[in-house]
Amino acid sequence: MDLIEKLTSLCKRRGFVFASSEIYGGWEATYDFGPLGAEFLRNLRNIWWQDFVHKRDDIVGIDGALISHPRVWEASGHVEGFSDVMLEDVKNGKRYRADHLSDKVKDGMTPEEVDEVINKNGIKSPDGNSLSKAKKFNQLVEVYVGTTENSKTKAYLRGETCQPIFYNYQLVKDSMRLKLPFGIAQIGKAFRNEIKVGPYFFRTREFEQMELEMYINPKDSDKYFDEFKKMSIDWLISLGLPKEKLRLRDQEFKERAHYNKVATDIEFEFPFGWKEFQGIHYRGDWDLKRHGEFSGVDFTYNDEANGEEYIPHVVEYSIGLNRLMLVLLANAYTEEEKRTLLKLSPKIAPYKLAVFPLLANKPELVEKARQIYIDLKKDLEVNIAWDDRGNIGKRYFAQDEIGTPWCVTIDFDTLKDNAVTVRDRDTAKQERVNIDKLKEYFNDKLNN
Ligand code: GAP
Repeated sequence: MDLIEKLTSLCKRRGFVFASSEIYGGWEATYDFGPLGAEFLRNLRNIWWQDFVHKRDDIVGIDGALISHPRVWEASGHVEGFSDVMLEDVKNGKRYRADHLSDKVKDGMTPEEVDEVINKNGIKSPDGNSLSKAKKFNQLVEVYVGTTENSKTKAYLRGETCQPIFYNYQLVKDSMRLKLPFGIAQIGKAFRNEIKVGPYFFRTREFEQMELEMYINPKDSDKYFDEFKKMSIDWLISLGLPKEKLRLRDQEFKERAHYNKVATDIEFEFPFGWKEFQGIHYRGDWDLKRHGEFSGVDFTYNDEANGEEYIPHVVEYSIGLNRLMLVLLANAYTEEEKRTLLKLSPKIAPYKLAVFPLLANKPELVEKARQIYIDLKKDLEVNIAWDDRGNIGKRYFAQDEIGTPWCVTIDFDTLKDNAVTVRDRDTAKQERVNIDKLKEYFNDKLNN
């Protein structure tokens, strides 16, 4: 079994990720996040918001609509330009994204260029059949909104979360009395009709993004671009990712999305190769200029600091929440001789700790353990697991497998010495800690 198969099995068995609508046979490339997956994602969202919004005095957050006015997506260039080149197996109709069919086909090639490469190299479909002519396939997901057949309007589910950040630029700036440079952040769902999906939930049609658009004077673009690269890598390391498994890769001109002047990918070394999971983009004035043209609103900024007038430029930070979860899971998955563990940072682990009575059939132990469990939940205000099933060894292994950093066991000595055993997930080392010191002990560990 490769790592992705092992993760798929663990995540289903332990309530992290389920194939969506499984009772109906599943729904291609769509996943539901179970109780532990939901905690994991919530932890990531909270840390990100804390670090990129609350800790900054130049960034505010919004929560925009999933379905905006259809003109938004015309102005953004997505209706016209948000497409991949697709080919079809002429025999069985299976569709393929051209740049995923062969190394010889590069992202950003036109359909004509793809046809030329396919013909020159005799490239066939993975089933050995001939391929159709290449054509562009738009990734926006269409929806029809309205109460009667006649009044239904074609609109789009948002293809990137940041568009509400652009069309609300002026409203946010004025209502919050902001001056450049300032940023607007948002976390939320985005939807794309991807031709090729997977592996697992690496590429899906519904996913979540955490995005930040920094509005700046065009002169400062290099400074912010470099700052965003450093800030991104530092943040990923703070989540426990090793520097050597991350790399920055500048996109070539042809790979770049229609809105980008410069783009750098942050890649992680997955079992299926180095793959992008975050982008730092210099979008220039593309978005505000286009929304200005399409809406008639003038976005010219009057810079009192130097008397200049310009359309603000944008440096963008964009990371996929679910894809980041897959990165963190792939990095954390560890097999040892006797156990499997997720070496997750305590910040993102679904449970921060677990509390057990040594024996479930001893009421005096259960009662004491239950009291400690309730007190810790109240004192620490974090998610804590309770387990009194099976033997203690099995309970430790069960918590290791879901990444719980510490287990607290209440035994017969506890009733005499007022201390508990705290076991560390990664080292399996145990130490006795006085119950009166537990709050301070875990606060120290959780805040480090
Ligand atoms: N606003 C810029 C933007 O959307 P992007 O490179 O298309 O840029 C940003 O997407 C991030 O969103 C990616 O780095 C990736 O983590 C995530 N992402 C994009 N498409 C995805 C998909 N189909 N499934 C899961 N995550 C996706």
